[in-house]
Amino acid sequence: MASTPSSATGLIGRANFPHRHLLGIANLAPHEIRFLLDEAEQWAALNRAETRKHDGRLAGLTQMNAFFEASTRTLLSFEVAGKRLGADVVNMHAAQSSVKKGETLIDTAVTLNSMRADVMVIRHMSSGAVQLIADKVDCPVLNAGDGRHEHPTQALLDALTIRRRKGGFEGLIVTICGDILHSRVARSNMLCLTALGCQVRVCAPPTLMPPAVERYRVMPFTDFDKAIEGADVVMMLRIQNERMDGGFIPSSREFNLLYGLNPERLKRAKADATVMHPGPMNRGVEILSSVADDPQHSAITEQVEMGVAVRMACLDVLTRKARGVPSWA
Ligand code: CP
Repeated sequence: MASTPSSATGLIGRANFPHRHLLGIANLAPHEIRFLLDEAEQWAALNRAETRKHDGRLAGLTQMNAFFEASTRTLLSFEVAGKRLGADVVNMHAAQSSVKKGETLIDTAVTLNSMRADVMVIRHMSSGAVQLIADKVDCPVLNAGDGRHEHPTQALLDALTIRRRKGGFEGLIVTICGDILHSRVARSNMLCLTALGCQVRVCAPPTLMPPAVERYRVMPFTDFDKAIEGADVVMMLRIQNERMDGGFIPSSREFNLLYGLNPERLKRAKADATVMHPGPMNRGVEILSSVADDPQHSAITEQVEMGVAVRMACLDVLTRKARGVPSWA
């Protein structure tokens, strides 16, 4: 495990974390990404300890998680993260809320704000919706995934998992394969991993590749056998059917044949390649169970574990101003 604590980077006391919200990786400098990863290491260690409840640094603060789109990992790990830090955590599921009666996004945000949330975690199906809420409320807002735009804590937990497995980022070949076009995970990971020094390859059928994807400083491939050659990390993404309004692939079977990760294909990557998937997986489509459940390569459950640590770090850092704690301390 390679980790550089903030104290070792000489940043303590020199500057404040300048961001009120965490809306995307695009807003973060590489040293700010590393700072959040370093902060997360202590929580990764605590989460493996026998007593996992922290001293309560967020005690007295109210964390509101408002999810307008389905989630298992992100919602629950933000809830666990807040509770481990001592916050009072409340969840709003859009399906059981007044959104169902026609209440607008802004009215919902203003309503939550009136209850004096100290931090909000928002997931929404529209790109840019979390920014809209952040502009309307008085507390820090964390983006838990907005449309096709960004999923910053997913990219941070993926980066933390990679650093713990590989010892660093410089020169690592990371192949991201699947529905790149509709994926906020792909977008946040392209931004995050290139900023940290990885060589990122993205692979998809032409219909699922964003136009001009090279602007993210990544190498596009349509042939998965070529894209996976010599990779240190292979990250698989599911087809985002909920963001499609037409047929982007002929069939799941054909997609699996050309773009599915199976043991044969994995042999083209480095012998110690790490296999990742943000979940939820569509087993038998983008990944076979024999790879997803292979303890020699798969980091999928570790990704979920690091999700709690990363979200604890983000909640802690973003509420420091309200708690009167210097952000780098
Ligand atoms: N990776 C991820 O965002 O999973 P959920 O949709 O279950 O939160």
